[in-house]
Amino acid sequence: MKVFVTGHKGYIGSHLVDLLKQEGHSVTGCDLSFYEGCEFEPLVKADIELDKDIRTLTPDDLEGYDCVMHLAAISNDPMGDINTSLTYNINRNGSINLAKMAKHAGVGRFLFAGSCSVYGKGEKLDLDESANFNPVSAYAISKVDAETGIKKLADADFSPIILRNSTAYGYSPMLRIDLVVNNLLACAFTRGDIRIMSDGTPWRPLIHCRDIARAFIALAKAPREDVHNRSINIGANSENYQVKDVANKVKKLIPNANVVFTGEVGSDPRNYRVNFDLLYKLLPNFKLSYNLDSGMEELHKKFIKNKFSLADFEGSKYIRLKALKERLK
Ligand SMILES: NC(=O)c1ccc[n+]([C@@H]2O[C@H](COP(=O)([O-])OP(=O)(O)OC[C@H]3O[C@@H](n4cnc5c(N)ncnc54)[C@H](O)[C@@H]3O)[C@@H](O)[C@H]2O)c1
Repeated sequence: MKVFVTGHKGYIGSHLVDLLKQEGHSVTGCDLSFYEGCEFEPLVKADIELDKDIRTLTPDDLEGYDCVMHLAAISNDPMGDINTSLTYNINRNGSINLAKMAKHAGVGRFLFAGSCSVYGKGEKLDLDESANFNPVSAYAISKVDAETGIKKLADADFSPIILRNSTAYGYSPMLRIDLVVNNLLACAFTRGDIRIMSDGTPWRPLIHCRDIARAFIALAKAPREDVHNRSINIGANSENYQVKDVANKVKKLIPNANVVFTGEVGSDPRNYRVNFDLLYKLLPNFKLSYNLDSGMEELHKKFIKNKFSLADFEGSKYIRLKALKERLK
């Protein structure tokens, strides 16, 4: 396949480029390099690297590709709340416009990095794709609007596929520690405590960032009639966890760390346990290559190997909100 990946230098995108190239696909990456200098380990380069804002792309840029995998976004709840206009501009308007450009250029398949956060304040447990949207942040609203706008463009020649991804965790060469699992593990590793900001009860579906990349590739190759214009939850039923379960797993890896409930965010309104049956019905051969235990173990080993420090934990390199604020200055 000839694939155009946006956000290819990000936490998930860097795995995606690596996996696509390993499978022999031709990869063009397009990324504004917001987080240049924030690498944890060296990144595999795309065959063609465009240092462009997705909002400036035209059909000419996209002509000749089999598939667009669109990951570029302001990828963070807190950032969305601080700078809502940038979030809506890139995540919603930019995404819908990019899908229009791809359709105009004759690209057959458009895979969008959506999010299970569209369920937000879940109305019940085990939400499937028919559940109501209930977003509780500008970021999540931008994902609802984008997927809704993109799906309107579907026709006989243009197939959008919306991946409603679980919350990612785990090692990536473009590491983030602002995601719940990585944050709890990094905090325990560098400070010796496991700081839970809510009461620990909210449910979250979790998935290794490399498994999200694997799902993108599997869906790009799936028969068109199975996946055309579908929204699909990406994760596994067994990988729904309460935040306190994650804390207990951190404690197993770092037994000396103490669990501290800071109560900073009161009762977290984001609470969703998700059902993933559709993914496995559509892709019977797809399996996650990690579970939370193996993914956390791998990241813990990387922290030891790379001597991840308190300065790393407290600095801006691995925290999107801090890095972006510095960049926007
Ligand atoms: N990480 C998660 O837990 C998670 C969960 C669900 C969905 N997602 C979605 O998956 C996608 C990738 O997430 P991530 O964790 O890799 O994020 P990330 O912040 O690590 O990567 C995003 C990349 O997009 C680039 N980018 C941002 N705006 C751009 C623009 N206008 N033009 C070009 N490039 C731009 C950034 O430079 C960055 O490299 C995002 O759309 C995110 O919303 C992530």
